[in-house]
Amino acid sequence: MKIAILAGDGIGPEIVAQAVRVLQALRSDGLKFELEPGLLGGCAVEAAGEPFPEVTRKLVADADAVLLGAVGGPQYDALPRRQRPEQGLLSIRRMLNLFANLRPAILHPELANASTLKPEVVAGLDILIVRELTGDIYFGEPRGIERRDGQRVGYNTMIYSEAEIRRIAHVAFQAARKRNRRLCSVDKMNVLECTQLWRDVVTETAKEYPDVELSHMLVDNAAMQLVRNPRQFDVVVTGNMFGDILSDEASMLTGSIGMLPSASLDDRSKGLYEPIHGSAPDIAGKDVANPLATILSAAMMLRYTFDEEAAAVRIESAVKKVLAGGYRTRDIYEPGTKKVGTAAMGDAVLANI
Ligand code: NAD
Ligand code: IPM
Ligand code: MN
Repeated sequence: MKIAILAGDGIGPEIVAQAVRVLQALRSDGLKFELEPGLLGGCAVEAAGEPFPEVTRKLVADADAVLLGAVGGPQYDALPRRQRPEQGLLSIRRMLNLFANLRPAILHPELANASTLKPEVVAGLDILIVRELTGDIYFGEPRGIERRDGQRVGYNTMIYSEAEIRRIAHVAFQAARKRNRRLCSVDKMNVLECTQLWRDVVTETAKEYPDVELSHMLVDNAAMQLVRNPRQFDVVVTGNMFGDILSDEASMLTGSIGMLPSASLDDRSKGLYEPIHGSAPDIAGKDVANPLATILSAAMMLRYTFDEEAAAVRIESAVKKVLAGGYRTRDIYEPGTKKVGTAAMGDAVLANI
């Protein structure tokens, strides 16, 4: 088992260091894997002039899984688009065909008061967002900024083929089967043809899953329903852009964006695992970032790529114990709990592994 470790930028190195410590603790217990660090994003631009250098490409191609922190930061915002840190991440997703992005939003009961929503609204929350990750307006052509009739116009293309929709729909229906058998597909079919096709293909695919209850919702309503009554959702399936936005929104129901892990999978077992949040430049280097989303992403790696369910559960149980023990980074802190920094949160998880 070979794991590429791409810490990236901003808080990336701080949070990935804690997840690596947790993995290493499991290694000393008999799990076998090699950890191989590499550069991706702004740090790679600085070292090699591009966000996804050839050596990283090779590292990722040879690895069974990738653990990633986050990329980007304001210091890179003036770079030409192809050199932007985010392009490195988008290139990996595309290169590895990681079309299925699983983003579980689960409220740990101890964090009911950390959410900005009322505890009774979020209590018991357990949603799985299945986000399509290699299509949509993110990758559609044509795209660009150009001059037309004496002024600049900017444009992108929202596009999905039925094969792309069908394969993510299957992932979502199968996930729903293992949960509460309810799937809500989110689109904007009242305005966008691309998502009319989305709705049609998801509806066709549903015929193979008569045991799963399918519903459809327009994305604007879905954004509202997520904060009105989030527990109505079991599995949500949606396109790349809507999934990006709705998952950040859903993360706040769990207390903080620093709690939400993700798995990005192909049609076999190779995967990339990362927190859903970004490089948080505003708190980078201060030892205050919450490493739990990254640590929980490592648990997802053990589950989905390495089929090590017991090891995944060990990490998740350790996180539960740490929260029950009152340890809180700043983003989830409330009076009466113990405020700890990034590394001390890692210590607490290690102590409970
Ligand atoms: P962000 O997710 O980095 O930060 C949003 C807010 O959440 C900030 O206030 C930040 O401090 C807070 N936050 C995020 N992670 C946290 C954590 N673990 N603990 C505590 N607080 C946390 O989003 P942004 O500010 O819009 O983006 C910053 C940069 O990150 C941009 O360059 C963006 O492109 C990039 N980005 C990268 C990824 C990725 O690598 N997967 C994802 C999202 C954004
Ligand atoms: C995410 C991020 C990325 C996305 C960016 C950094 C390319 O926001 O992983 O959610 O939009 O997919
Ligand atoms: Mn995002």
